[in-house]
Amino acid sequence: MEAISVFKLLGFFVIFTHLHLITGTVTYDRRSLIINGERRILISGSIHYPRSTPEMWEDLVIKAKNGGLDVIDTYVFWNVHEPSPGIYDFTGRYDIVRFIKTVARNGLYVNLRIGPYVCAEWNFGGFPVWLKYVPGISFRTDNEPFKAAMQGFTRKIVEMMKAENLFESQGGPIILSQIENEYGAQRKSYGAAGKAYINWAAKMAAELNTGVPWSMCKEVDAPDPVINTCNGFYCDTFTPNKPYKPAIWTEAWSGWFTEFGAPIEQRPVPDLAFAVARFVQKGGSFFNYYMYHGGTNFGRTSGGPFITTSYDYDAPIDEYGLIREPKYGHLTELHRAIKLCEPAFFSSDAIYIPLGQRQQAYVYEGNGNCAAFLSNFETEFAVRVLFRNRHYKLPPWSISILPDCKNVVFNTAKVVSQTSGMQMVRTGSRLKSWESHHEDISTLANGPSLSSFGLMEQINITRDTSDYLWYSTSINISPSETIIREGRKATLTVQSRGHGVHIFVNGRHLGSAYGSRETTRFTANAHVDLQGGTNIISLLSMAAGLPNVGTHFESRDTGILGPVSLGGLDQGTIDLSRGPWTYKVGLNGETMNLNSPHGTSFVDWSRVSFVNHHQQPLKWYKAYFDTPKGNEPLALDMKSMVRGQVWVNGQSIGRYWTKHAKGKCSPCKYPGAFRPGKCQTGCNVPTQRWYHVPRSWLNPRRNLLVLFEEVGGNISRISLVKRTQANVCSSTFEHHPTISNWQIESSGETSMLRDTKVRLQCGIGQSISEIKFASFGTPFGSCGSFQHGTCHAPNSLELIQKSCVGQESCEVMASNDYFAMDPCPNVLKRLLIEAVCSIKPN
Ligand code: GAL
Repeated sequence: MEAISVFKLLGFFVIFTHLHLITGTVTYDRRSLIINGERRILISGSIHYPRSTPEMWEDLVIKAKNGGLDVIDTYVFWNVHEPSPGIYDFTGRYDIVRFIKTVARNGLYVNLRIGPYVCAEWNFGGFPVWLKYVPGISFRTDNEPFKAAMQGFTRKIVEMMKAENLFESQGGPIILSQIENEYGAQRKSYGAAGKAYINWAAKMAAELNTGVPWSMCKEVDAPDPVINTCNGFYCDTFTPNKPYKPAIWTEAWSGWFTEFGAPIEQRPVPDLAFAVARFVQKGGSFFNYYMYHGGTNFGRTSGGPFITTSYDYDAPIDEYGLIREPKYGHLTELHRAIKLCEPAFFSSDAIYIPLGQRQQAYVYEGNGNCAAFLSNFETEFAVRVLFRNRHYKLPPWSISILPDCKNVVFNTAKVVSQTSGMQMVRTGSRLKSWESHHEDISTLANGPSLSSFGLMEQINITRDTSDYLWYSTSINISPSETIIREGRKATLTVQSRGHGVHIFVNGRHLGSAYGSRETTRFTANAHVDLQGGTNIISLLSMAAGLPNVGTHFESRDTGILGPVSLGGLDQGTIDLSRGPWTYKVGLNGETMNLNSPHGTSFVDWSRVSFVNHHQQPLKWYKAYFDTPKGNEPLALDMKSMVRGQVWVNGQSIGRYWTKHAKGKCSPCKYPGAFRPGKCQTGCNVPTQRWYHVPRSWLNPRRNLLVLFEEVGGNISRISLVKRTQANVCSSTFEHHPTISNWQIESSGETSMLRDTKVRLQCGIGQSISEIKFASFGTPFGSCGSFQHGTCHAPNSLELIQKSCVGQESCEVMASNDYFAMDPCPNVLKRLLIEAVCSIKPN
């Protein structure tokens, strides 16, 4: 056993009393942030304001608050705020002040991670693309043009916040800010210049005098007074770089992001809760779920390339703003348990007591308070441990929390919270009046375009104003060429640095090819029917989200950089790369704003006949729909389409791509270290099929849907769906004073221990229409496939039906009293229920 020394304790209380006297400030010491003299264990969650709509913000914040959060964390997204140098946008989804005020109004704090490099699977990591073209710039290093721009934006944000009194030092909600992001991972490649840059960034930030501390995540060299913080799936082994800094976990990854073509990564909540409890038991006093609500990469904001439009992240609140159970509920219980430990937690340092080979206790005791965390790191089996003369059975890979050093109020592996199954159901609202317009490529050679000898880099030309850049060239072929005479095909080879290309020769689409997030370089081959005379080669190069991770953003190249060659001719293979090329930025439809309600009138549209509908590439489509009644979140089912972008009433829903997910989807067990790839779902189906349409973007009638399809697809199958709860499952054990098991160790004082209620709750506007399964006894299985065990109270179903059917929510007790019988005396019983939720009958 290692006890803390008297000296340490004394030091702790001296600092503690001293800081108590300071008000109106946020300071810190080795144990925690101290807000106006008060210490708190701060529970935080990331919600990125542009990834939802202002109309959703309040509800998200309230859900976060009800989930036990104290802090909302957000990055600041430079590229949406400063689209051109000195031109700012803080409107709509980008109204950061409104977002922060929404958080404040609900009594929560804010961690403002200004960056301004943010990574975040966000286009170009949050850097405005114009920054790449500032002469002499070198990103994220000791470079004057870069530092000037970074300082300019950081100052701009700080001043905006100050003007609105948003820092805690001014009475506002912001208690912490971040400068840079995970620089540690890149520092090696920058050498001494990187170190100088980090020192400069810290000094620059500190001199902005916000009155609240600054942090740098994953940067072990963060200079004082900046706090270096941890990001990861687990952060319990993290120690700050100075003994007087607190352990802060800025990114506790609640799930993971998704890329088109990959499965969905899920992180089981028992493991997430275990990770958090591990951090807190070792003295960590601030942790942030990245993400608490992931949301949507609307428009062209997703990073990448190929990050999906959904940024759901398997977060406790799902992409659509609905609570994800059991993740949300289980974490809420965890937060409650942690908060019960707060008085003891701040009354001493942790005392470590080994309980077994892979079992430990961390105890906080002082001022008459005592809290303990009992952990079991075994992945295969539960272990019985002795702690302060009582026995506790710890499930594998779990921590029990004892806020009074006696009673277990929470075990990270014991999920009692309800599980909810969500479904996408068709709405009655039909998409009607379909019309199409073909993107005209015959005029590519005319109009405003750029010419060069040799191939040019894509972003340099588009400045990322569009995903698309046309590369066109022509080649004269003599009618006497053998392949022409013999009717054989030539081979066109296109090497690209990303991210995709559609090949057209003489106006015909001959194929498409794509890179991947890991390797943006790829080679496309097409077999070409050449004609005698002039042949036009038109390559539509596509950039689908600029990379968000790494170094030297100034030298990132995209597009068709060659070689481009034509093989099979009499003279062999000819290199077209150095020849004359013309470029056209974007699509005609984009120039004409075809995606917006006023732009659709600029061109002729043709009625779409579903009978003779010919699937063609590069087509614009439009249709209208009325808004379905109710308030369930809405989405477009795009499964029948291939690739493109979609807009509703001129608002961009995002890029869609029906790419099937390749991966390893097998049942996943929570014990053992988590990493992406461990718990995948959704293999062999499109990675993303549904695209969130925020209700606030809709009018009651005649909403305009526009989409641009690059390849082809069946528009008649596109539909508007709503997200509702399909079923709920809930389980709890009875309270049994004499049976010793890991759930119930003693007849405790704490209410949660005795809480043997099962609560079922359907979604908004729904009620419980059916009980599919109910058993008080020894039932087993998982939600959707529960089974009776050897012990079963025969009246279970009937009783639960009586209490719950027709209700929006209901509570029942797992007790012999409630069922008026004991189906198997001396056996610990549980109650398992599966209920169906349906729209409430009027
Ligand atoms: C972190 C980064 C975040 C985000 C996350 C993955 O390394 O700081 O911005 O990209 O990874 O989702």
